[in-house]
Amino acid sequence: MKQTKKHTDDVVRGKGGELHQTSNGDVPILTTQQGTPVSDDQNSLKVGPRGPATLEDFHLREKIFHFDHERIPERVVHARGFGAHGYFENYESLSDVTAADLFQRAGEKTPAFVRFSTVAGNKGSADLARDVRGFAVKLYTQQGNWDIVGNNIPVFFIQDAIKFPDLIHAAKAEPDCDFPQAQTAHDNFWDFISLMPESMHMIMWIMSDRAIPRSFRFMEGFGVHTYRLVTARGKSTFVKFHWKPKLGLQSVVWNEAVKINGADPDFHRRDLWNAIQSGSYPEWELGLQLFDDAFADSFDFDILDATKIIPEEQVPIRRVGRLVLDRCVDNFFAETEQVAFCTNNIVPGIDFSNDPLLQGRNFSYLDTQVKRLGGPNFTHIPINAPKCPFHNFQQDGHMAMFNPRGRANYEPNSWGAEGGPRESHDIGFRSFAADEKGRKVRERSESFADHYSQARQFYVSQTKVEQGHIAEALIFELSKVHKPAIRARLVSHLVNIDTKLADRVATGLGLQEKVQALHPAVETRKDLKPSKALSIALNPPKTFAGRKVGALVTDGVDRALLDALKLELDAEGAVLEIVAPTVGGVEASDGTRMAADEKIGGGPSVLYDAIAVLPSKDGAASLLSNASAKDFISDAFGHLKFIAFVKAATPLFEKAGIPEDLDDGFIELTGRKSAAQFVAACRKLRLWQREQVVTT
Ligand code: HEM
Repeated sequence: MKQTKKHTDDVVRGKGGELHQTSNGDVPILTTQQGTPVSDDQNSLKVGPRGPATLEDFHLREKIFHFDHERIPERVVHARGFGAHGYFENYESLSDVTAADLFQRAGEKTPAFVRFSTVAGNKGSADLARDVRGFAVKLYTQQGNWDIVGNNIPVFFIQDAIKFPDLIHAAKAEPDCDFPQAQTAHDNFWDFISLMPESMHMIMWIMSDRAIPRSFRFMEGFGVHTYRLVTARGKSTFVKFHWKPKLGLQSVVWNEAVKINGADPDFHRRDLWNAIQSGSYPEWELGLQLFDDAFADSFDFDILDATKIIPEEQVPIRRVGRLVLDRCVDNFFAETEQVAFCTNNIVPGIDFSNDPLLQGRNFSYLDTQVKRLGGPNFTHIPINAPKCPFHNFQQDGHMAMFNPRGRANYEPNSWGAEGGPRESHDIGFRSFAADEKGRKVRERSESFADHYSQARQFYVSQTKVEQGHIAEALIFELSKVHKPAIRARLVSHLVNIDTKLADRVATGLGLQEKVQALHPAVETRKDLKPSKALSIALNPPKTFAGRKVGALVTDGVDRALLDALKLELDAEGAVLEIVAPTVGGVEASDGTRMAADEKIGGGPSVLYDAIAVLPSKDGAASLLSNASAKDFISDAFGHLKFIAFVKAATPLFEKAGIPEDLDDGFIELTGRKSAAQFVAACRKLRLWQREQVVTT
C-alpha cells in the first residue's frame, strides 16, 4: 500500500483509491473477535489484486459470518419498542402492606429499566399506529428483579390467556397478503372482535384517544391485573398498579396521527430520547389501589376479570413513589431489544392473583424469550441480570456466563462452607397461602359475564368531543372492513353500550337497516356512575412543560419578539424550535444569523404542540406559494392548536383558508406580555371549541 495523499493525519489511500483510516494511538486498534490486530479492513485476501478470494481469510470469514447472524427474531407481539433507564423512589414505607424489600424505606431508590411499545406493528412500523402501548417496567430490587409488564390501558381484550394467539393472529396483518401492517382496520380483526363480546370494554379504550398518545411521557401505565401485596406475617391485600405521568395526559387527534406517521415515523422514540438527552426527565408516580377480600366480594364485577377496572372513585389511588427516566441506552440492541420482561419475575412481598389471563402470561413469557434470545441463559445478559447478588446451581446451556464455582453444583450436599447457596426460610419467596378448591373444569366464571356495563361507563365518562372521537375511530376502522355483515355485527354490540353511539356509527357507515342489539349474556347496567379519571380531556395538564412550539420564520423575523417568546417558553419548561424556508436558517431583523431546526416541509406543524407564525412582511409574501407553509398553518388550525402570530402573517392565514374572524386560539405577539399570554393559553393544549368548525 502506498501512502499517497493524507486527508487527515491518519487516512491513507490504497492502490485502488480506497481510503484506510489507521489507528494513531488515540483510538484502539481494530481486532477480530479473537483479539488479532487487523491490518486492512478494506480488502479481502486474494491471489493477486484481481484474483480469487482465499479460503484462509479468517478476518473476512468472521466478519461476514457475524453480520449474517445479526438479526434475532423480533418479539411476537410488542415488537416495536423504545426503552430507557431510570429509578424508582419511595415516598414512604409500605411495610404496613408488603414485605417487598424495595418498598420498606422512604427515599430509597431502586434502579429501573422501562420499555414502551406498540403491540401489533412489526419492529419497523410507525409510532402513531392506533394501538395499545406497552408500558413494561423492570425494577432491579435488592431481592431480585420485579417486572410490572403493563399497558397504557387498564383493561384487556380477552379474559382467558387461551384466546391470546387468536387475538394476535386476528390483529396482525392478514396471513395471505401480509397487510395491513400495524393496523387493526381490517376484516380479520373486527371479525374476531365482533365475536368476542368480552372485548367491548377494551374496544372503547382503543377507539379513544388513549390509543394515539402524543408521547410516552404523557400517558398512564397500568399493571392491568389484580395482584397481591403480602406482609412478612403473610397478610394479603389485593392491589392494582397505576403509573400517573407528572406532565399530565395528552393525545394527538387522528388526522394528526396519520400525518405524523409520514412526517416522523419515529416520533415517540425521538421524543423520549430528546427529552432525556436535554435533561427534561419524564416522571410517573406509582399509584396503588389497595382493597381487601370484603371489597372484592362486594364489588360489582370480578376482580380477577382483566376486562374490568375498579373506578378510582370507588378505590382511591394511593401515590407511593415516583419513577424517573434519566438515562438513554448506550446501545439499542443490547438493552432495548434484548431486555426480557416477564410477569413471573416477582419478589417476596408481592404475589399473583388467580386472574386466568395473568396465569397464562406467567407461562408464556419465558417460552417466547428462550426462542427470541436463543437459549436459557438470557438472564445473563446485563440488561436482564439482577443487580443484587444471585446464586444457584443452574449451569451450562448456550452462552453461559455464570456457572456455579467449585465442586458443588447440586444441593443438598456435604461440602459445608464450600457447598454453595442454600434456601432461606426467613426472606425467601413464599406464595400467599390462598385456600383453593374446586372441580377441574374448562369453564368461564359467571362473574365474568357482564361485557357491556363498564364499556358504557367508560363511554359516558368521556366529554362530548372525546365521544365523537370514539365514534369517528369506529367509523374509520369499520369502513376498512369489506364484509358488511362484520360491520353490522359490531354495531349490534354498540347498541348494548349506547344507542346514540350505535346510531352515529351506523350512519357513518351508511348502514341501510336498523341494527338490533345483540342479545347480551347480562343486561347492560346504566346506573354505574361516570368516572372523571377515565377522560383525558377532564384531566388536563397544569403546565405546558415538556411540550414543543414550532416557530415559522423567514429572513427579517423580529428577533426581539422571538427572544421574548423563547424566554417565556424556557420559564415554562417548554421548547422552541425554528422552522425556516431552508435548514441553513435566516437572517433576523437585527442582522443576526439564526440556525433553523427544521426546513418547513421537514418540520410540519403536526410535530409541535403549538405554533408561532412570525414571518417578516417580505418573508410572508415569499411563503404564499409554499405548499408546506400553507399546510403548516392549516394543519395547526385543523388540529385545534394555539397559534401565536404577527400581523405580517395575515396573508398566509388567508391562503391557508383560516376564517377571517380569528378565534380565541390565535394570540398576536407584540412583546413579552403577549408571549406570556400565549404560553398560558397553550396549557390547555387545544382549543376544543374549534372542533365545531373543523373535524379532526
Ligand atoms: C393484560 C394483558 C397483557 C399485557 C398488559 C401485556 C403486556 C405486554 C408488554 C408490555 C409486552 C412487551 C414487553 C417488552 O417491552 O419487551 C408484552 C410482550 C409479550 N406478551 Fe404480553 N401482555 C398481555 C397479555 C399477554 C398474554 C395473555 C400473552 C400470552 C398468553 C402475552 C404474551 C406476550 C409475549 C409472547 C410477548 C413478547 C415477549 C418477548 O418476546 O420478550 N401477553 N406483553
